[in-house]
Amino acid sequence: MSIKSLAALSLAAALCAWTVGGKAQDAPGASPTNVEISAEGKQVYETICQACHMADAKGGGSTGAAIPALADNAHLASKDFIVDILLKGRGGMPWFNDLLTPEQMAAGATYVRSHFNKYPDPVTEADVKHIAAGGKASPRDCVTC
Ligand code: HEC
Repeated sequence: MSIKSLAALSLAAALCAWTVGGKAQDAPGASPTNVEISAEGKQVYETICQACHMADAKGGGSTGAAIPALADNAHLASKDFIVDILLKGRGGMPWFNDLLTPEQMAAGATYVRSHFNKYPDPVTEADVKHIAAGGKASPRDCVTC
């Protein structure tokens, strides 16, 4: 197992403890349990995604770790694709449905699509809720979600 995948595992464990443990009982300090994640996409990326996908979003492919690049990734043309993965996870990619709010997932997805790719149209909180309810980001025909 590479160092990078070990780091990914310990991050996943920290994320898990964070979800399960809650914030109130945690000792003061700089543990991930005390990190407040803002609803700003860059913050979401740097706090969560970057640990695995790397700061330049080029993933870990060249080192043998199975973490795909998010930069210049044609899959991300589809909002449904990235939101679905954030909601449900896939393989070694954790799901974030329990950890991030729809607003934070939308901001993170928007950041990845616009900053590391050239898809400027934002993913909205409504898109995330709509996809979570089994819909598609577009065309949007559901008036209640
Ligand atoms: C614990 C490590 C880890 C974290 C944290 C993580 N990812 Fe991933 N991600 C992965 C792995 C591993 C895969 C490959 C999953 C597979 O196909 O088996 C992946 C796949 C993806 C894919 C699919 C890429 C493709 O083209 O198939 C997207 C999109 C993605 N991640 C976005 C994100 C975003 C956005 C965040 C932050 C909110 C994030 N990831 C956080 C490990 C991680």
